[in-house]
Amino acid sequence: MNIRIEKTKNPKAKPEGALGFGHIFSDHMFIMDYSIEKGWYDPRIVPYGPLSLDPSTMVFHYGQEVFEGLKAYKAKDGRVLLFRVDENYKRINVSNERLAIPPIDNELCIEATKQLVSLDRDWIPQQDGASLYIRPFIIATDPFLGVRPSHTYKFMIICSPSGLYYEEGLEPVKIYVEDKYVRAVRGGMGFTKTGGNYAASIKAQDIAHENGYSQVLWLDGVEQKYIEEVGSMNIFFKIDGEVVTPALNGSILSGITRKSAIELCKQWGVPVSEKRISIQEVYEASQNGKLEEVFGTGTAAIISPVGELKWEDHVMKVNDGKIGEITQRIFDTITGIQTGVIEGPAGWIQEVK
Ligand code: COI
Repeated sequence: MNIRIEKTKNPKAKPEGALGFGHIFSDHMFIMDYSIEKGWYDPRIVPYGPLSLDPSTMVFHYGQEVFEGLKAYKAKDGRVLLFRVDENYKRINVSNERLAIPPIDNELCIEATKQLVSLDRDWIPQQDGASLYIRPFIIATDPFLGVRPSHTYKFMIICSPSGLYYEEGLEPVKIYVEDKYVRAVRGGMGFTKTGGNYAASIKAQDIAHENGYSQVLWLDGVEQKYIEEVGSMNIFFKIDGEVVTPALNGSILSGITRKSAIELCKQWGVPVSEKRISIQEVYEASQNGKLEEVFGTGTAAIISPVGELKWEDHVMKVNDGKIGEITQRIFDTITGIQTGVIEGPAGWIQEVK
């Protein structure tokens, strides 16, 4: 499918100074429509701007929506690099299937991402730690108030020059273990990237913020015993020499940075396992001096060291509030690969021409 391009006649000024995360948007966006009769059609890159949607548009009422997040970096030699973009578009179809949204062609999505990033390449920030955050998403667009899958959709990609997700940067964050609210249950949508999962998390996150914590750590939705994930990241523990992360169980997002961290540990011969792990086990490890490191992984956050976990009345300090050795190694390696300084495993990087 040919992608039509309409360039902006009013390019915006590029941002200067601190970028924050997700406030600023580049000059163009990609849009493609879907109807039952035509399938996905009219892929186009157009100037970034508001959409006009009927107030009855289904996504506003029932949240039939999926999204992805990935990043483009400009290497020192000027190459523009995408990290594991194929994994994002494989995952969007996993989310689509659960949300009853029609599947989308992976190769077309990758091509659309490349063409958009190529056109807006001057928006890729070059400050340390900054990147062009890319947000593909699909929304249900039928103007209809009945509950059923929409018959029409829009797939869009927008780009946001962004700095680090957490203000703390690589300073370890404090995390609150949520024991009242739950994020997802098995059989629900926890494994998908859909707005509803994040909507379910906002109240608890707000309370955690008020109490001085950056994010919440979710426990399983049934017994509230087993660890699932953090608000915008997967979670890893290094306990007595072994790196452990909760196994994917249907209510945890299958993070691409999570998968990369596991693959790197395996490649380095660092013991790593995906298994069910309870908050009680983590607490006991902390009491016995065996909780060596805790870190989160996510596209936006990359690798975020955790310096403190608060669970009920227990405060677990991790590694004296300092970043741990394996956390630092994974961070350095993944960011090195993303920025073209280190050659990653085959297929992890795709270049935008
Ligand atoms: C990402 O890491 O890309 C995410 O989607 C998390 C987001 C909610 C900021």
